[in-house]
Amino acid sequence: MYLSKEEEKMSEGEYGETIRKSMDILLALGEIYNASKLVDITSAQVSGVSYKTIGDAGLEYLEDLIRDNAKATINSTLNPPGIDLNNWKELGFPEDFSIKQNKIVEAYEKLGISKTCTCTPYLVGNVPRFNEHISWSESSAVAYVNSVIGARSNREGGPGALAAAIVGKTPFYGFHLDDVRTANWIVNVETPLVGADFGALGYIIGQKVGGDVPYFILNNTPDNNDLKVLGAALASSGSVALYHVENITPEFKLTNKNEIENNLNISHKDILDTREQLSTTDKEPDLVCLGCPHASLEEIKRLANYIYRKTIKNKLWICTSIAVKALADRMGYTDIIEKAGGNIICDTCMVVSPIEDMGFEVIGVNSAKAANYIPSMCNLEVVFGDIEDLIQFK
Ligand code: F3S
Repeated sequence: MYLSKEEEKMSEGEYGETIRKSMDILLALGEIYNASKLVDITSAQVSGVSYKTIGDAGLEYLEDLIRDNAKATINSTLNPPGIDLNNWKELGFPEDFSIKQNKIVEAYEKLGISKTCTCTPYLVGNVPRFNEHISWSESSAVAYVNSVIGARSNREGGPGALAAAIVGKTPFYGFHLDDVRTANWIVNVETPLVGADFGALGYIIGQKVGGDVPYFILNNTPDNNDLKVLGAALASSGSVALYHVENITPEFKLTNKNEIENNLNISHKDILDTREQLSTTDKEPDLVCLGCPHASLEEIKRLANYIYRKTIKNKLWICTSIAVKALADRMGYTDIIEKAGGNIICDTCMVVSPIEDMGFEVIGVNSAKAANYIPSMCNLEVVFGDIEDLIQFK
């Protein structure tokens, strides 16, 4: 792997122990994936934040970095932790967990990572430009930023993205290169998609293509919320980091459709079957959790309009960032949702929070990614459907 003189000095410890250790991680990744060199990056999105996933060992790792005076040198944002940082007590998050979780978030802050605490950093100011090299480790955000924005990131692990945030560079391989950004599957969707259908589509295709690049020919025009949900599902049932949608996403023209042998047709029945398969029970959800990936202002607005002046029977969480909630507060959506009996939950989500210790049994979700993970990560039953199927009114 080629290193500039400057990079050699970094890896030899001339700029301190933290840079040397971070370079070790990046060079090891580069060796594994045959990177030719390092490339400068403009942003990092760091995952590995919930105490549920990183535990005490993760906290110790971060505290070691702080002792070494590590600091992010580029725009770096943080993935969701396991609690609503401001309201964990009122919302009933377990105290021991919350104390540890706060320490983890404080540690990241000391490392210079902005406490955005969201898996949709592109909704709160971490918005790379087309073709820019970045290092992001939230898989749904990687799918979005590569596909919808056209920036370039591999699916990094938490430590790799953190090392990249400190050094400001990442190994140059995979989705940073031109030649792997063309599609190798054509997916012809024969039916119009609405709501949770986009997640169901992503779930089917992720299972079939693994880490390849699908090219969708859709029957109707998705908005950015649909693309957010599609990418999250693709990245969870498979390991998709990039997809194209004909006439929609910025790099769809890179693909010559005539050269692709893998073709899939998706019918209305395929979508219906997958929707069914994503539920583990037909019981009524005691908690409906929306916002996976974290909800946009537009999604919160639609929900507020739907439940306006009604009273919800089940508990309702809408997960989003504190930045988007501030706008929902200002627009009066939070008030409508709270009057109907729901809560906007900041920072965390139904998968990375200790929801299994909070007395819930059946979680209703409209996200295929959440439906995929809740049974294994939370050991709870899940019902997958549209908002209209999940929310029951009194
Ligand atoms: Fe985000 Fe949690 Fe879903 S981190 S993508 S809301 S599983």
